Amino acid sequence: MKQPTELTSWKTLAQLRDQLQHLTLRDLFRSDPDRGPRMVAEQAGWRLDYSKQIVNDEVLRALFALAREVDLSGRVEAMFRGERINATEDRAVLHVALRAAREEGFVVDGVDLAPQVHAVLDRMAEFSRRVRRGTWTGHTSRPIRSIVNIGIGGSDLGPSMAARALRPYCDESLSLRFVANVDGADFDDAVRDLDPAETLVIVSSKTFTTQETMANARAARQWLVGALGDERAVARHFVAVSTNAKAVAAFGIDTANMFEFWEWVGGRYSVDSAIGLSLMLAIGPEQFSDFLGGFRAMDQHFRAAPLERNLPILLGLLGVWNANFRGSQALAVLPYDQSLARFPAYLQQLDMESNGKSVTMDGGAVSWSTGPVVFGEPGTNGQHAFYQLIHQGTSVIPCDFIGVARTHAPVVVDGVRHHDLLLANLLAQSRALAFGRTAAEVRAEGTREDLVAHRVFPGNRPSNTLLAESLTPATLGALIALYEHKVFVQGVLWGVNSFDQWGVELGKTLAQQILPALASADAPPSDSSTDGMLQWLRDRRQ
Ligand code: F6P
Repeated sequence: MKQPTELTSWKTLAQLRDQLQHLTLRDLFRSDPDRGPRMVAEQAGWRLDYSKQIVNDEVLRALFALAREVDLSGRVEAMFRGERINATEDRAVLHVALRAAREEGFVVDGVDLAPQVHAVLDRMAEFSRRVRRGTWTGHTSRPIRSIVNIGIGGSDLGPSMAARALRPYCDESLSLRFVANVDGADFDDAVRDLDPAETLVIVSSKTFTTQETMANARAARQWLVGALGDERAVARHFVAVSTNAKAVAAFGIDTANMFEFWEWVGGRYSVDSAIGLSLMLAIGPEQFSDFLGGFRAMDQHFRAAPLERNLPILLGLLGVWNANFRGSQALAVLPYDQSLARFPAYLQQLDMESNGKSVTMDGGAVSWSTGPVVFGEPGTNGQHAFYQLIHQGTSVIPCDFIGVARTHAPVVVDGVRHHDLLLANLLAQSRALAFGRTAAEVRAEGTREDLVAHRVFPGNRPSNTLLAESLTPATLGALIALYEHKVFVQGVLWGVNSFDQWGVELGKTLAQQILPALASADAPPSDSSTDGMLQWLRDRRQ
């Protein structure tokens, strides 16, 4: 298989980078009054403006040529066809089947996956309705008022991010909590004010072996059985979401109360599987179905739209241009919508666990950058924290701004709409990053000469802006799918497997080895630094 750097289009892009070194966004906008409207693509409720990326038509053409040269559309089809593209784990990658419409089906190797997907969705819907109506009762016959989802990584970040984002759609009479960290404080904080008699615990784990989740599940069982005084209470207060029925049964949860998913769903791609049960309980089955509809709309677009108008492909290609040709190693995701507060954290796992790789599909070392460091905070908070570096620091950090036209929180004080302030800031930031402020402009403002250099903004810092009319279950689903597919596109271009995560294993193994040494000096030694810290900790924990 050819390395990306050996491809003709990659070489063209490298030449263009050299030729266009002095290309500025000021010049690009000046020379083309239509640049703004021209560099917009819209789909599934989202409008992507990529005109503030440092690209001209030649660069875009070369990026599209790159997509063709790696046979991106062939790779997309391979995923949708259910080929085992996760080669290191010998698995298909079929999160797209999770949102297939019941009536359309989703056939892989002659088997329609839609009936099994919808059978689970139907069970989830029936269970959710019973809990929401109060007809699923606890051990003491009281209705469920609180739901605690126990899970970590993909078994937490998706539903917790989405439940936060869709709070206006949630049933307010149900209190929803998420426990992920093995730090007992996380569990304590979540259940502190809950009544065990009215609490449902969802143990969410694809493998049902994850150390943190199993420890928290045991803590929950102890808390609940301790309060209700009867081991049989587990049957009414615990359900599981997993692919591992044996481990669920061994934990003591009746597999009749288990919602399954499949090995072909990666953890970080699982929010739309049964892992979304907590979300469905909160927003109800109908709105969960709208959420899946949003994913589906983006899937169909991704599969069918030409490269030039394809949102995930555009995002993926522009990210490659920034990372591999303009030297950016990070991506700031900046939602100007408080309800998307956890979206950057969600994307961290999606992107960094998928493309944080330095080995190609066939095991060779990469000699090009792969996944960026993803970070972000909601605007405007980030402006008062880390934007200084984005505007004037020595590294160029591409930004994805995200906003909506209509808010669910229309606070107006003295005629001033908070949402106007928020949106004005969003638009101002991408302008400031793109066009900056020159020394001449700073001087023209009457700035003292010794301060001029400090007040110059270099500009020419790339960003995308994604806008939707409002954040709904459907637009949120489409937004998630947009980034899922963008990550896929970049994995294909970089030649890495976006669907394994071997890099998380070593730490897990070492934690198991170190555990006994926290309690006993007789445990096998590690290294002089670790042993020194263990000794110090043991001395203070006796
Ligand atoms: O450690 C990483 C990881 O395997 C993620 O990929 C996954 O989302 C998370 O752990 C949780 O795994 P599980 O759902 O099996 O508990």
